[in-house]
Amino acid sequence: MLRPQLIVLLVWLFVMACALAACSGSPQGNAADGGRWYRLHRCEGCHGEGGRGGRAPTLNGSAISYRRFLNKLRTPDSTIMPAYGPEELPEEDAADIFLWLQKTQR
Ligand code: HEC
Repeated sequence: MLRPQLIVLLVWLFVMACALAACSGSPQGNAADGGRWYRLHRCEGCHGEGGRGGRAPTLNGSAISYRRFLNKLRTPDSTIMPAYGPEELPEEDAADIFLWLQKTQR
């Protein structure tokens, strides 16, 4: 039989773990798939192979936060970069790209 104190502790730990995951700014995703989405959505044409840059800023190893990254995808600052809405590029795929770019070295 679980004692009430133990249940309270478990619930508290669970809440803290969720809060930490949400605040870390690191999305859940699969970096291994990121490269595939990156090419599929033609990011490569502007940001270059592996995010090394070309007609647009380099993205690999970039220090921007995931929030900012996602924001840029949804509402780019320029008219050159197309906006990628959630129906075109779901957040899970965006997270994969973000993680993949972080892993891809300059
Ligand atoms: C037609 C060219 C083009 C395509 C395609 C394109 N981008 Fe961009 N991107 C740009 C340009 C130009 C900028 C810089 C101006 C701006 O922020 O809008 C930019 C900026 C960005 C930034 C902000 C970089 C920073 O350091 O602030 C991110 C992140 C980004 N792009 C990601 C992507 C991803 C991911 C894709 C594919 C899903 C993509 N872009 C497709 C042209 C493009």
